[in-house]
Amino acid sequence: MGSVVGYIGDKQAQPILLNCLAKLEYRGCDSCGIAVLGGSIELYKDAVRVKELAKVAPQLGGTMGIGHTRLATHGEPSQVNAHPHLDCHGTIAVVHNGIINNFRELKRQLISEGHNFVSETDTEVMPHLIEKYYTGNLEEAVEAALRDVEGSYAMIVLRASEPKLVAASKDSPLIIGIGDRGNFIASDVPAILDYTDRVIYLEEGDIGVVTPDSIKIRKDGMEVDREEHKILWSVEEAQKAGYEHFMLKEIHEQPKVIRDTLGEYTRVAEPAVDDLAVMRAVGIESMLMLACGTSYHAALIGKYVVEELLRVPVRVEIASEFSYYVQTLAGTAAIVITQSGETADTLRAIRRLKGVGCRVVAITNVVGSAASRVADQTIYTRAGPEISVAATKSFMAQLMVLYWLAMSYSKADSRRLASLLMGLRQLPSKVQQVLDDEDKILECAKFLSRYEDVFFIGRGISFPVALEGALKLKETSYIHAEGYAAGELKHGPFALLGGDTPVIAIVARDNTYEAMLTDIKEVKARGSPVMALAEEGDEAIGELADLVITVPRVDTMFSPVVNVVALQLLAYYTAKQRGCPIDSPRNLAKSVTVE
Ligand code: F6R
Repeated sequence: MGSVVGYIGDKQAQPILLNCLAKLEYRGCDSCGIAVLGGSIELYKDAVRVKELAKVAPQLGGTMGIGHTRLATHGEPSQVNAHPHLDCHGTIAVVHNGIINNFRELKRQLISEGHNFVSETDTEVMPHLIEKYYTGNLEEAVEAALRDVEGSYAMIVLRASEPKLVAASKDSPLIIGIGDRGNFIASDVPAILDYTDRVIYLEEGDIGVVTPDSIKIRKDGMEVDREEHKILWSVEEAQKAGYEHFMLKEIHEQPKVIRDTLGEYTRVAEPAVDDLAVMRAVGIESMLMLACGTSYHAALIGKYVVEELLRVPVRVEIASEFSYYVQTLAGTAAIVITQSGETADTLRAIRRLKGVGCRVVAITNVVGSAASRVADQTIYTRAGPEISVAATKSFMAQLMVLYWLAMSYSKADSRRLASLLMGLRQLPSKVQQVLDDEDKILECAKFLSRYEDVFFIGRGISFPVALEGALKLKETSYIHAEGYAAGELKHGPFALLGGDTPVIAIVARDNTYEAMLTDIKEVKARGSPVMALAEEGDEAIGELADLVITVPRVDTMFSPVVNVVALQLLAYYTAKQRGCPIDSPRNLAKSVTVE
């Protein structure tokens, strides 16, 4: 996994490529490299991050080039495994994000034909295959090579003495940025925002042929038209704006994200019901929600909300597990949630759903992403660019869409709906209250940062909140954290409780409240320190728990909103306390484009 960038124009390519790569480093990077075409292809790569590479790389003269940040999948992070990769003669250079599934067979075949390989990567077969098929036209050679390939790719190819870059995309996103005196290619928009806000999204199987002043897109050997999009967010929005980390900035943006996402759909007064033809057509006898990671937790919260308001059964599945079940999907409305719109497991699930005739609504944050292209209908969240690997504001925007959907189709009486609508409108200020109370959370983070194992527990709608709290903590602070249904602790995990294992209890003032108090007492009796998240005014909790984070009172249905914000801050400050690289945790990537 990793990111790819390319530039072709009238400026020196090296600083542009390094700048573009630095913008995508947050997606995960254990090594990186660039290749620039001057008289010949000059290449520099190493198992370092972009900043270090920029310091030590020699000047590579030339106005076109390609670059890559790698997060190892095949072969350890090392100079030789870093991209770009070259053919035998050093005339073809390739950077690639994705996985070539049949690379072993291809490599064996190419070696038997006399090609020499130096790395352990799957990507290295590409320059050799292109070399094999090259008869004078680079894009045709790339097309021929890709016919042999099974797998996913966002790929850029450069050949000595050809003033063009060839880009290819399948199951892995790739955009072309339209500049004034030069063009760009990248696996994600933030890479090129310093230079242009005009982009074309390549579609499945597209080949882009890019020169300094032209862009041609081919598919199956024929030229095709692809729409130009204007990126509506700015470089500033993709920058830290004075915050120490993107994660903190993104947590703090949530009141605005709630306003923006709800504003988009609720348009001042009532939830809009007009344009969800898919859901009306299906008739909604049941609903299936699919997602991975944090988006899966949003779906789990969505289940409680939809089941209460629509009175239809909701199944929530982990997208990466979905392929392994026998499905009964007739009359089911399928909602797929993916922040990036590029998660390979989720895309595979969408294709499977469509394959059995199910219509799919995608909820995604990325305009033009693969999910939006594959689904029948897309609802965009309005979170803006999310740079930190740990999802925060995109999750919040997903919740808002789910609330809006459920309220739009609600069977609840008008009084309940009016009260919910009022509650929804108050959420930005309630979230702001949590953000303003950071000091208490910081104190709790100092306490938590000393431990290596933590349980998060909740019941009802707070159970997925516990799952999300644990995920946020483990990925940012590297503390082993498990989210558990509070009632399940006694069925095994009790064996792990004790003074070294704090338990964080998410306590909502609903029908789970009394049971949660009992859970806390049981946990305390086994020696675990207890930190509770509780509503303001809850004195009983203050007497039971060792530490309490107080959140504002909201309707239980909205309690995940305030509780998750508090848990995001808890994870952030705990990670900071432990000196972790918060925005790009080890071994993780922002979009998981491999299955
Ligand atoms: C955790 C996180 C991941 C993603 C997961 C799905 O903070 O970001 O768990 O939620 O990889 O990603 P999307 O939503 O892009 O499909």
